[in-house]
Amino acid sequence: MRILSGIQPSGRLHIGNYFGMMEPSIQLQNEGDAYYFIANYHSLTTVHSADDLRSHTRDLAIDFLACGLDPAKATFFRQSDVPEVTELTWILSTVTPMGLLERCHSYKDKEAKGIETSHALFAYPVLMAADILIYDSDIVPVGKDQKQHLEVTRDIAMKINNRYGEGVLKLPEPRIGEATAAVPGLDGEKMSKSYDNTIAIFEEEKTLKKKVMRIQTDSTPVEEPKDPDKSIILDLYKLVASPADVDQMIVDFRSGGTGYGDFKKRLFGAMWEHFAPFRERRAELEADLQYVDNVLTTGAEKARLVARSTLDRVRAAVGL
Ligand code: ADP
Ligand code: TRP
Repeated sequence: MRILSGIQPSGRLHIGNYFGMMEPSIQLQNEGDAYYFIANYHSLTTVHSADDLRSHTRDLAIDFLACGLDPAKATFFRQSDVPEVTELTWILSTVTPMGLLERCHSYKDKEAKGIETSHALFAYPVLMAADILIYDSDIVPVGKDQKQHLEVTRDIAMKINNRYGEGVLKLPEPRIGEATAAVPGLDGEKMSKSYDNTIAIFEEEKTLKKKVMRIQTDSTPVEEPKDPDKSIILDLYKLVASPADVDQMIVDFRSGGTGYGDFKKRLFGAMWEHFAPFRERRAELEADLQYVDNVLTTGAEKARLVARSTLDRVRAAVGL
């Protein structure tokens, strides 16, 4: 079973990214042949400084390794070290109906937010399809917001197979975790760097505390019972605290007498502790950038062999 996922180096890693994409990917590296990459071709659509793109790429590599990606189990690489993917993108574009891309939310959302649009931003799902199909991927762990792109990927693969023969491309399946499909941000909306409501995993202690204290709550007074089903605090606490501590917080919500400020302090404590081993590992990796670079170079060599073989198969099928 081949598992594949990618993440864009377009800002600091937040806990939505971690629980939605990174943690499931790290779990899955024990269950099959895993390929994970840093999607830097994709980030060219939004990161327009070369220095920023390079530093985000390096930081994300360190983050992923610090969070538990094991290069002995998973092949880890930069997207741009496998340029074959851009050739496959072109071939896939020729079977992709305009309407399929016009229906994609991500382009419409970005346009609505006033982000400068480009052909690349519009065509981005085709590059994503190539990312997935070039590795003959079976399973793609992502957050819920990527579901539509997986459907587009399957549609494109079917179009290729219909036109050029069954089995040219393999159809992948998304893997979307129920509990972590959409981690809420400080305001209760989906946590996202575009909404300025994120908590970074590698936040400074003081900033983390400040952010947790900013989480939106209703105005129920301290002494009154609170609804545990509609609380961002509890939703986040469930991700980082033990089941016993979560049960205790639910009891304390229901019984009244504890204010939101106290619950937030508990959440901060659990969050700080949950990521402590990652922080330690991150500091070690930052002191050994040569190691990080070697991992990515070795990963790219391995990924490229697989990509080359798929691309050759597709080139032959289409008549190139
Ligand atoms: P952002 O929304 O902050 O721009 P990205 O679109 O770069 O995040 O997402 C990177 C990965 O993290 C994707 O797999 C996405 O599904 C996942 N992800 C992002 N935000 C969340 C969230 N709030 N909950 C769960 N998964 C998320
Ligand atoms: N589009 C994804 C995101 O913005 C990143 C990505 C690019 C990806 N190519 C991929 C994810 C292939 C999974 C598989 O988060």
